[in-house]
Amino acid sequence: MEIIITPDYEQMSKTSAQIIASEIKRKHDLVLGLATGDTPVGTYDELVKIHKEEGLDFSKVTTFNLDEYIGLAPLHKNSYNFFMWENLFKHVNANSGNVYVPQGNTDDPEEFSQWYEEQIKKTGGIDLQVLGIGGDGHIAFNEPGSSFASRTRIKALEKQTIEDNARFFKKVEDVPRFAITMGIGTILEAKKILLIVSGKNKAGVCAQFIEGPVSSQITASALQLHNYVTVVLDADAASKLTRTEYYNWVRDNKHMVQKKVGR
Ligand code: F6R
Repeated sequence: MEIIITPDYEQMSKTSAQIIASEIKRKHDLVLGLATGDTPVGTYDELVKIHKEEGLDFSKVTTFNLDEYIGLAPLHKNSYNFFMWENLFKHVNANSGNVYVPQGNTDDPEEFSQWYEEQIKKTGGIDLQVLGIGGDGHIAFNEPGSSFASRTRIKALEKQTIEDNARFFKKVEDVPRFAITMGIGTILEAKKILLIVSGKNKAGVCAQFIEGPVSSQITASALQLHNYVTVVLDADAASKLTRTEYYNWVRDNKHMVQKKVGR
């Protein structure tokens, strides 16, 4: 894992947007996995800026979102589909035919999940998957105890996740109890992974998934099994890491590191 510690949320957003933009410039028909939530809002704002100021082209990019609440129609204002259009897609030249978000109001979530996996396969697989991390260590909605072999499926949400996400709803009872989510197995098949994280409330869980043991109790720790992961954190989220000096040395000597290890 490459660990990039940035001073604050703004810099975390800029750094992560630059990483995504350079992958799109490298491969115009990039298959990009996307996350929702508070964390990537700044990253998406930066991408919109790069699109407007430098012409970053999304027209051939295919996107797959990680998850969606069961029971919410795509145009529901709390749906992740709505979030993505409001925060990114409608501000860039995204091609709606290449945009995939799990369908929360499907009649048959199981069949839909299989179809979603097939669409990912048909594109040749995800080139870069963007992730956030939940307070309980989840990636996508893979709550503690999720199998590392899991694929896209329905998952019941943890009490902590429901409470954390209640801020987007009128009351906690309105938060759906289930979601369709890519599995850990699905995520680990992405060629590259970029996890972004911000805030003191995530510091403990960051130390656990980066420096702790691999455990299904902190599903983000499965990323230790992947060979190309970049984590961009702000200083608050990084405040409980113990090997900061090493991470910062690697970050500050990127040129030398690239020459030796090729990334
Ligand atoms: C959302 C997702 C979740 C969030 C996580 C953090 O698509 O997959 O895993 O990334 O819950 O959410 P925020 O950024 O709101 O703290």
